[in-house]
Amino acid sequence: MKRIAVFTSGGDSPGMNACIRAAVRGAIYYEVEVYGIYHGFQGMIDGEFSKMESYSVSNILQHGGTMLKSARSTDFRTKAGRKLAYNNLKAKGIEGIVAIGGDGTFTGANIFFEEYGIPIVGVPGTIDNDIFGTDKTIGFDTAVNTTLDAIDKIRDTADSHGRIFFIEVMGRDSGYIAIQSAIGGGAESVILPEKDATAEDVVNNLQDGIRRDKSFSIVVVAEKDDPGYAVELANAVKKTITDKDIRVTILGHIQRGGSPTSTDRTLASRLGLGAVEGLLDGKKDVMVGIVNDKLTFTPLKDAISKTKKLNPDLLRAMKILSI
Ligand code: F6P
Repeated sequence: MKRIAVFTSGGDSPGMNACIRAAVRGAIYYEVEVYGIYHGFQGMIDGEFSKMESYSVSNILQHGGTMLKSARSTDFRTKAGRKLAYNNLKAKGIEGIVAIGGDGTFTGANIFFEEYGIPIVGVPGTIDNDIFGTDKTIGFDTAVNTTLDAIDKIRDTADSHGRIFFIEVMGRDSGYIAIQSAIGGGAESVILPEKDATAEDVVNNLQDGIRRDKSFSIVVVAEKDDPGYAVELANAVKKTITDKDIRVTILGHIQRGGSPTSTDRTLASRLGLGAVEGLLDGKKDVMVGIVNDKLTFTPLKDAISKTKKLNPDLLRAMKILSI
């Protein structure tokens, strides 16, 4: 393999730049030419390719976002779009791809591999940590540290005023950000997409705390399909708990930005390099991950279709420690 390309796609996550840097420098180390594709699959269709040198990725490791930009491409969902993308890759002589993103990215990558056979190694980059085949995804650790910083600050004012706060975090289908934020932030209650909890359950939980003389409470809520679920829940709880001030904070996209933590920088660097080494070793249609501190390769099909279940130990710890 003499020429490869790297791109980022879907929701960005802190550490993607460190991963791009690792893929570019890894390729150069093995004397493979490397192109960056801007704006993900859309850039592949529009021909946004740029040859990367070692210096192209200097001074990006510590920055959030992605220097290659990101997009969610509707054109790539069509056969015609994918054909254009293939023609562009062929014209550039690209023989392998490193695709950094989440399950949407891997779904596109898997279809593209099945249609055109260009070897692709996916790298799990999403704050949601919802990808099967890796213990952690790039950006998750930074996102949780961002939520904890916010929760710590909210606790100060919640304590001063004796209020109940509902704090909404990201993770449309996955409660990883929520459960780790709740444990690390010392929350009284957590609402997860994986577990059906009603407003009544939350009320019972909060009232238990009030009976035990808790003067303020934090409820961490994982967003549902659209941001704002915490407001809905808080309004329902307000109907029963009338003698306490209830406030809502939606953390939103601040969770997606910021300088990556040490954990994310190391993870992203190992995975970016691992992806290139995987391609050179003949891997195709797989995702590189780290499981039990070892580099692994999981078929993209499994990474997409299998669910990484919440660790029951986290749920147990949350339950016991929030009394
Ligand atoms: O990156 C994953 C994620 O952060 C989800 O948790 C969230 O629901 C979604 O992206 C929102 O993304 P966007 O606003 O870019 O559509």
